[in-house]
Amino acid sequence: MMAIGLRPLHDAHGVEVQGVDLAKDLDDATFARILDAHHRYGLVLLRDQKITPGQHIAFSRRFGELEIHVLNQYLLPGHPEVLVLSNRVENGKQKGVPNGGWIWHSDLAYMKRPSLGSLLYAHEVPDEGGDTLYAGMHAALEGLSPAIRKQIAGRSAVHSYAWYYAKLDQRAPLTEEQKAKTPPVEHPIERTHPVTGRKALYVFEAFCDEIPGMPQDEARALLAELFAHSVKPDYVYAHRWLPGDILFWDNRCTMHRATPYDQQKYHRTMHRTTVTGDVPF
Ligand code: SIN
Repeated sequence: MMAIGLRPLHDAHGVEVQGVDLAKDLDDATFARILDAHHRYGLVLLRDQKITPGQHIAFSRRFGELEIHVLNQYLLPGHPEVLVLSNRVENGKQKGVPNGGWIWHSDLAYMKRPSLGSLLYAHEVPDEGGDTLYAGMHAALEGLSPAIRKQIAGRSAVHSYAWYYAKLDQRAPLTEEQKAKTPPVEHPIERTHPVTGRKALYVFEAFCDEIPGMPQDEARALLAELFAHSVKPDYVYAHRWLPGDILFWDNRCTMHRATPYDQQKYHRTMHRTTVTGDVPF
């Protein structure tokens, strides 16, 4: 068993798990401690990892089945389980998603079965900018006023990938096939974590603009209030990347957004695997 240590990252969520080397065989007991940290902290950081795409995939698979992302033009050749996020252009072709998630979101929330968690591995990072911000959505829900809790109780929100895409300016539009695979879906605004039973706020600026059964202007005002509330410093951990970092976040109780950087001056290349989750309740 590897001797591991835990260093919390923020009051709301997040922990660095020290002493793990994913290039070596990971015994079951060490794996169980990482999984437990993931459930308790929602966000697990492993530093100084030197692993191949195959090792990244094998580690990710221990948490569940992996998604093949709908943006098939950005999958790593030979390893479709890896989504490349990169501003590099090679032979005139964009190597990865050029602006990976600059609006607050949780991965695949626009699917009927959103992702359980994502493992992002930093290959090259800018000297400044390009941090990723993570909001702890258990703490955000628990910090809402009783009046707002009453307003959202029992309600769902619509999550739409096409609506998100319409707001982006740096990406090629979705193909008809990609649109057909991502029709709008409804999920409860208060989501229950299937392992811990703790509730989390589950609405995201990227995808949500509608609350069924509520007039549009009222829904927009309520969503805007929820979005502003959940990104208060009390709930947000900002991660400054180093090459070799792997962050494994729980999409059921966190949301995230990448911050901009000077794309003319720096390269930023990240590899993401995405673990399949279950239907929110
Ligand atoms: C993502 O949105 O999954 C990636 C975030 C990042 O590139 O920092």
